[in-house]
Amino acid sequence: FGLMTYDPGYTNTASCRSAITYIDGERGILQHRGIPIEELCEHSTYLEVAYLLIYGHLPTEEELSRWVYDITHHTYVHENIKSFMDGFRHDAHPMGILLASVGALSTFYPEASDIDDEEQRNMAAIRLIAKMPTIAAFAYRHSLGLPYVYPDNDLSYTGNFLSMLFKMAEPKYEPDPRLEKALDILFILHADHEQNASTSAVRTVGSTRADPYTAVAAGVAALYGPLHGGANVAVLKMLQRIGSVENIPDFLETVKQGKERLMGFGHRVYKNYDPRARIIKSHVDEVLEATGKESPWLDIAIELEKRALDDEYFTSRKLYPNVDFYSGLIYEALGIPTEAFTVMFAIPRTSGWIAQWMEMLRDPELRIARPRQIYTGPRDQRYVPMSER
Ligand code: CMC
Repeated sequence: FGLMTYDPGYTNTASCRSAITYIDGERGILQHRGIPIEELCEHSTYLEVAYLLIYGHLPTEEELSRWVYDITHHTYVHENIKSFMDGFRHDAHPMGILLASVGALSTFYPEASDIDDEEQRNMAAIRLIAKMPTIAAFAYRHSLGLPYVYPDNDLSYTGNFLSMLFKMAEPKYEPDPRLEKALDILFILHADHEQNASTSAVRTVGSTRADPYTAVAAGVAALYGPLHGGANVAVLKMLQRIGSVENIPDFLETVKQGKERLMGFGHRVYKNYDPRARIIKSHVDEVLEATGKESPWLDIAIELEKRALDDEYFTSRKLYPNVDFYSGLIYEALGIPTEAFTVMFAIPRTSGWIAQWMEMLRDPELRIARPRQIYTGPRDQRYVPMSER
């Protein structure tokens, strides 16, 4: 096989050069365009971070207001997309609906297939970021058999999303600013994470010169999997299964015997505490306070983390909490059903997918993604006629 390298899961293969997101997994550092995630969460907003990821610099006041205006005014989806969504069974998984609907968008905006046209690329970026929350909220309402709530352009990005999810009747839905802010921080934390499975899927499909809606649909598909975007659902189910703090030692024993995984722990790149997990953890209390809810699972999560971090099995394998360990607790407190958790990841990751897709298209070294293999099957076999088998 000559000089070919065998690298299952691409743990040691750089598939591109990128100037978007920097991760130092050993030290637990995450930066976008060089700015630490902690600073972005403290001073920025999700839409500003989306701009930073896509265009490479923090926007001026004018650039930001134009960007926010454009996104706010592209939140509506074509009525036929709505009819398309109506066709799903009432119990369809929201990620399945999202995946199909984002793919369907490409047929509504065929001009986006002109990927060499910068204006078309920008338009697709705006449309995708604007419409993702609308489709996600419609998918949620569909599962409840509730009428869709149209976007409210007077609200913020996250406020409008909460309105589309939860508004029950006139008058206007007034989002709690604390929840709007907490959701915005969660969105910042999920915006990009370099060449993870879904981003690699977007780049792979994008490298074939497919249109951006199709490429992003591939990202949604990859995110659907339980080891990627589905992990926060698995965390909550795990906490529910553990049921009480007393059951933690037995549960950890089954994990150590290799019978199951401690969901929300471990990461391909972070061999230290995931900085996103630390920030999310610091917001759980304030969300619970704003919603007036008590989370029966929070105590279990905190104790589980403590015990795992004290345990040689986890420390020797450098397994620390990742972004998903606490995010599900916040989503649950916000009233988001477990099934829709992965959708909550897909909405903000859209900006990262687009940023990576645009960067890829500008790369003079871009070639179609086409890994090789090490063939292990038979060769030179004779075709056996049916009568002789
Ligand atoms: N619980 C128990 N053991 C684990 C876990 C875990 N969560 N994660 C890894 N290990 C063990 C694994 O059994 C192996 O042990 P040994 O060396 O004895 O065979 C060792 O640690 C290395 O594991 P790996 O599977 O080679 O690690 P990976 O880099 O291929 O997998 C991972 C990374 C995230 C898929 C994995 O840690 C995992 O399954 N975690 C649970 C799922 C999860 O929380 N996923 C969210 C990831 S962050 C958000 C995102 O990217 O979408």
